[in-house]
Amino acid sequence: MQIDTIDLHSATARDELEEWVSLRNVVQRDLFGMDSPMSTLAMVQAMAARDDQGNEFFLAREDDGRAVAAARLATPGPTGASDAEISLFVHPQARRGGVGAAVVARLEERARELGCARTILDQMSPRPDGAPGAGFARRLGYTEVDLVLGSRLDLPVSEEVLASLERTAREAYDAAYELSTAWDDIPDEWVQDRAELATGLSSYTPAGSIEDDTDETWDAERVRALFLRWNTSGGRVVETIVVVRDTAHIVAYSDLVVYGVASAHPHAAQSDTLVHPEHRGHKLGIAVKVANLRALARDEPEVDTVFTWTSPDNAPMNALNALLGFRTVAWTRMWARDLGAA
Ligand SMILES: CC(C)(COP(=O)(O)OP(=O)(O)OC[C@H]1O[C@@H](n2cnc3c(N)ncnc32)[C@H](O)[C@@H]1OP(=O)(O)O)[C@@H](O)C(=O)NCCC(=O)NCCS
Repeated sequence: MQIDTIDLHSATARDELEEWVSLRNVVQRDLFGMDSPMSTLAMVQAMAARDDQGNEFFLAREDDGRAVAAARLATPGPTGASDAEISLFVHPQARRGGVGAAVVARLEERARELGCARTILDQMSPRPDGAPGAGFARRLGYTEVDLVLGSRLDLPVSEEVLASLERTAREAYDAAYELSTAWDDIPDEWVQDRAELATGLSSYTPAGSIEDDTDETWDAERVRALFLRWNTSGGRVVETIVVVRDTAHIVAYSDLVVYGVASAHPHAAQSDTLVHPEHRGHKLGIAVKVANLRALARDEPEVDTVFTWTSPDNAPMNALNALLGFRTVAWTRMWARDLGAA
């Protein structure tokens, strides 16, 4: 078996990235079923182009040229300046023969070369016990450092549910607040407030150990870069905000990103939702999420699934998602290993 980095500047880069995406999708379908959302070339190309993170892509091939594993090394990962994050997908028919362990060893070596102190395995499973990746990570000497629940909402949400949630929200937030929704570009007048609220996100929501050293400082430029990245991943983004009428300041927002627009499997991911602590208890979280779902049904009616990721400790967010009809379908764990240890 041979493990190669995809040279993103070579003439064959596009073909190899397509091979990478298709192998990743085979693994995803095997784990989560036929109608799971597909990764796309545009998404991976946008990842490769990020300037706030290094991304290297690897393919492991059998001697006959068949690709049996796809992996990605993100440096530094989103988990802290000295962490490198590994994503790994081994073809279902090539498992339990040492392929996964060999690829991890190779990526650990590369992370060490890049000066990283830890590697993080990013692992997702349709089962609470994390099989098959959890056993693999433990066997390789990794320790679990974070668990996030992935939930899925099948669209359309019934008019009855949406209308009832809107009524509940409106009764609670009355005339003090006003909602606005925008597609794709973040309006100039929102950017500054939006950045300030995002900066507070880590201190406002329960955080797992993994997020502790993430840079949570947001400015207007970083918010704009995020929206641009969502758009260039072949996606569209819809954001709903809430302003206090008296001060015109933004006190809540929620983002929903549509991936694979115009493809066979467009799907959406509910990204951050945040309500400023001083304005909680007015059902603003429900209001912004329902407004986004309305915009999605109106403007991107082909999308039939929304995914979201939450900490199991974030009880208010999980309760809200359950009201909308989300159900947990994925258990995502982060596993860490010090590269100093042999
Ligand atoms: C997890 C995964 C990467 C393992 O790949 P693999 O090539 O089968 O792994 P290896 O053959 O190198 O396994 C090394 C050791 O890990 C352990 N292991 C691997 N799969 C396991 C499983 N399903 N259950 C328990 N332990 C497992 C075993 O101890 C194994 O050694 P053994 O086969 O001699 O007993 C593969 O199953 C996969 O792609 N799963 C779906 C995607 C995923 O979970 N990725 C994240 C991985 S952290």
